[in-house]
Amino acid sequence: MSLADEQARLDAALSEARTAIPNASSTDALTDLERHFAGKRSAASAVNEAIKTLAAPERPQAGQAVQAYRAAIAELAEERRQALAAEEAATAAVTERIDLTLGAHTRPRGHLHLVTQIRRELEDIFIGLGYRVAEGPEVEDDWHNFEALNIPPAHPARSMQDTLYVHLGADEQVMLRTHTSPVQIRTMESQAPPIYVVVPGRTYRNETLDARHSPVFHQIECLAIDRHITMADLFGTIEVFVRRLFDDDTIRTRFRSDYFPYTEPSAELAVSCVFCHGSGCRVCSHTGWIELGGCGMVDPNVLTAVGLDPEEWQGFAFGFGLERLAMIRYGIDEIRTFVDNDLRFLEQY
Ligand code: DAH
Repeated sequence: MSLADEQARLDAALSEARTAIPNASSTDALTDLERHFAGKRSAASAVNEAIKTLAAPERPQAGQAVQAYRAAIAELAEERRQALAAEEAATAAVTERIDLTLGAHTRPRGHLHLVTQIRRELEDIFIGLGYRVAEGPEVEDDWHNFEALNIPPAHPARSMQDTLYVHLGADEQVMLRTHTSPVQIRTMESQAPPIYVVVPGRTYRNETLDARHSPVFHQIECLAIDRHITMADLFGTIEVFVRRLFDDDTIRTRFRSDYFPYTEPSAELAVSCVFCHGSGCRVCSHTGWIELGGCGMVDPNVLTAVGLDPEEWQGFAFGFGLERLAMIRYGIDEIRTFVDNDLRFLEQY
């Protein structure tokens, strides 16, 4: 055969390749085509074999023709490979999409943190009782976090051992809020009574993280201000609320005298143990009762601080920790686990 024949053989194969390769339907099909057009039994190998039968002066040209053919095949294949990769990625983006909102018929891939779940549940209960949800800043000033709440300058809660101060303005005037109670003040300052609000949110204390303490935790605060509010309203509201929360109408509430500067009288709030119903178990340390938080009638000094006349308006308030509530409800004994971000823990709830 002549050089012209060999060239014709390569041209024919290349023109075939120009239709076949761009239509390869998958990367596997493309690999097969590459083998067909450039592998051991391809036109390229046949021409290579034939070179020795050509006249000596024609051989280099034949060799170059084979190289040019191989380069053209490689280029076609590379182009198709890139197009296929893009198509396959686009298909995968649709067929393998992770929908974080799925849940009804497949196992959800993500869900809300336990504390967020409890917070929303509490909000729902209080909204059902006619309350509004209020929020406030996590960086507070002395007036809202302490002063207006009737907490005197020398009160131990203000000490650097308890409060995380922020270096802004005068010394010890700006801090990470130590409780959600400052939002009581902010709400009364910004709206006229009657007021019925709950305030969930993040709070901070100067604690070292260990099994029972965390420098960051969550509280929920409740404030009701109206005419003729009495302690009976406080007790009734708390009872309805804990029964809905634990979905158990046999739960009893207990109020024992306590002291908070912003309530008078003040009480510690406990509920009968939701696990043993009062007979004593590990969760309630064999007392039959679980302490939830603090409550009381809003101190007249607090009402005066926000410009309300205590003769006309009265109210009650209470507050407690969300992590603690979750720990009680699910028998969790380390507060740390809420912030460890260990999926083996988080996925259980
Ligand atoms: N602020 C208190 C705390 O951080 C909890 C509290 C007690 C809130 C009594 C109140 C209340 O509203 O009346 O421990």
